[in-house]
Amino acid sequence: MPEHPGVLQGRGAHGTPYGDAALPDKRQVAASFSRAAASYDAVAELQRNVGMQLLARLPAALQAHRWLDLGCGTGYFTRALAERYVQGEGLAVDIAEGMLQHARPRAGAVHFIAGDAEFLPLQNASVDLLFSSLALQWCSDFPRVLNEASRVLRPGGVLAFSSLCVGTLQELRDSWLAVDGFVHVNRFRHFQDYQHMCTVSSLQVLALQREAQVLHFPDLRSLTTSLKDLGAHNLNPGRPGGLTGRSRIRALIEAYERFRQPDGLPATYQVVYGVLQKPLLVVRA
Ligand SMILES: C[S@@+](CC[C@H](N)C(=O)[O-])C[C@H]1O[C@@H](n2cnc3c(N)ncnc32)[C@H](O)[C@@H]1O
Repeated sequence: MPEHPGVLQGRGAHGTPYGDAALPDKRQVAASFSRAAASYDAVAELQRNVGMQLLARLPAALQAHRWLDLGCGTGYFTRALAERYVQGEGLAVDIAEGMLQHARPRAGAVHFIAGDAEFLPLQNASVDLLFSSLALQWCSDFPRVLNEASRVLRPGGVLAFSSLCVGTLQELRDSWLAVDGFVHVNRFRHFQDYQHMCTVSSLQVLALQREAQVLHFPDLRSLTTSLKDLGAHNLNPGRPGGLTGRSRIRALIEAYERFRQPDGLPATYQVVYGVLQKPLLVVRA
């Protein structure tokens, strides 16, 4: 890992205690996104819309001398942040080395670092803006993410994140449940849990909203292929493994067809947008 000012060495994606059977395996998350690096941009329409909406929610007056794109993926929003904060120094962190390799050549002077949102490889009070679009739903310990954000933000600094909550891919989840009683879809936190965890954190909540976005697909195969190309197919521990038999697939198609709308098969995403601020230091007289 190259040296960067304000960046701690020797922690991050490979220094963390992985392997807890109750949690999504981060090595698998990293491997899945690394494999998807080349196909991601072509299918990431929703991810681009969500990231643009998150950018639009950034406080206009924020001076980001140093900013971090956390879970930068292919670097689409790393480049957008570099354009927005031309004078600032940019950092981008991702747990997937394949994503970093893809993003690195495309984002100019930004420093790309392998790391984990729950164990940020950054020094205390070293960034003014922590931007994270659609990455934190992969972190099982969200309070830890908030603590890390609070630690690395300078007083007055802002955490802007988008994530996914319960209700996301509900149609696929319900269709699989009807077929075999198993949850074949990644698990998501409830919006109320996001509200609670943000409220009790040491950060001040400036805004926290949930908005539904619905994509439409011509058929089930296009939906499942796009999830795979995003690297976002089901990685839950305990997911049913093995080959998916033809009859089960037929049953799944039938179950999903019940949701069909004039525009095609819907896939709902429940998107959470949060903007939080680290309080300014209070100087007592
Ligand atoms: C859906 S992509 C979003 C990428 C980018 N932010 C965008 O909006 O296009 C999620 C990214 O989060 C990364 N990620 C997942 N878990 C992470 C973690 N614990 N720490 C850092 N990055 C993580 C993945 O490797 C992947 O690149």
